[in-house]
Amino acid sequence: MDRVLITGASGFLGSHLGVHLANSGHEVLGFFHTNTIPLPFRSLKGDVSDREALLKRAEEFHPTAIVHAAALSRVIDCEREPELARRVNILGTTNVAEVARSCKAYLILLSTDQVFDGHRALRKEGEAPCPTHEYGRCKAEAERLAMAVPDSLVLRSNNIVGRSFGWGSSFTDGILAKLVRGETAKLFTDQFRSPIHVKTMAEVIHRCIAERKSGVLHAGGPERMSRFETGLALARAYGYPESSILSESMTSHPQQALLHRDGSFDTSLLRSNWADLGSEKIAAGLQHDALEGVR
Ligand SMILES: NC(=O)c1ccc[n+]([C@@H]2O[C@H](COP(=O)([O-])OP(=O)(O)OC[C@H]3O[C@@H](n4cnc5c(N)ncnc54)[C@H](OP(=O)(O)O)[C@@H]3O)[C@@H](O)[C@H]2O)c1
Repeated sequence: MDRVLITGASGFLGSHLGVHLANSGHEVLGFFHTNTIPLPFRSLKGDVSDREALLKRAEEFHPTAIVHAAALSRVIDCEREPELARRVNILGTTNVAEVARSCKAYLILLSTDQVFDGHRALRKEGEAPCPTHEYGRCKAEAERLAMAVPDSLVLRSNNIVGRSFGWGSSFTDGILAKLVRGETAKLFTDQFRSPIHVKTMAEVIHRCIAERKSGVLHAGGPERMSRFETGLALARAYGYPESSILSESMTSHPQQALLHRDGSFDTSLLRSNWADLGSEKIAAGLQHDALEGVR
């Protein structure tokens, strides 16, 4: 079993991951920043850009593995506040990488399709990053910093679906909130991703830790889906009429210059590692959430 430090533990993915790893017998310590809701696993408040405080607290825990999920993770926020984006996403990763080195811990950096330009479908792990905005540039730099750590993995994702359970918010949360209120949701028919369910993503990370996977890995579901198709899968899972999901084009968005048309991944490496996880369609996870009453 590992001693796993999770940064961004109060985020959508980090909170699911903390619960999943703690339930799997790992010793978990989560770091959060502005969160005020107690997490269901051991956690501490701290800013990843505060080197001294981060090193002191992390070294006291002495992790054997670190999952660095903390980020300023919205494209528009990074564009509006580029200095903050660099401080959290680049300086934060510099500091986390230093912790990994000093503790000789295995490091996973959560990264994104946004390190590419959005012009080509089904990107493979070996393709060179070509970012077009501040978030993408920060993450591409963070990837270089993480890859310089001897035992490390860059784990890219592009659309993690499923409900948050109190911490962070997801693409799914925003759409379901509208459907629950009896409203419709408008989604792009011309923007594509490889959605993966958050619980599948947490298990991918669990196995990466167990097997100490290194290099770069694209974690996405087996289907290249438009945002509209993803919304339809969600409506079906929760029993809402398909007519509650309306189609629109991303060209109608006021910030369309920032939006990437195609962030989909080639996920054959994921499938060759773990056929069960790599072939899991999001419909199954969404239906499971709906049955469990995770609304
Ligand atoms: N969700 C997706 O679909 C998706 C897709 C691709 C990649 N990713 C990547 O996956 C990771 C997790 O995504 P997410 O959706 O879970 O993100 P999220 O919900 O936005 O959570 C971000 C986390 O970062 C923490 N954080 C922000 N600034 C910080 C700082 N200065 N010091 C310490 N912690 C700080 C937040 O803490 P507080 O809330 O306590 O302030 C929060 O826990 C991110 O690196 C993101 O770029 C996510």
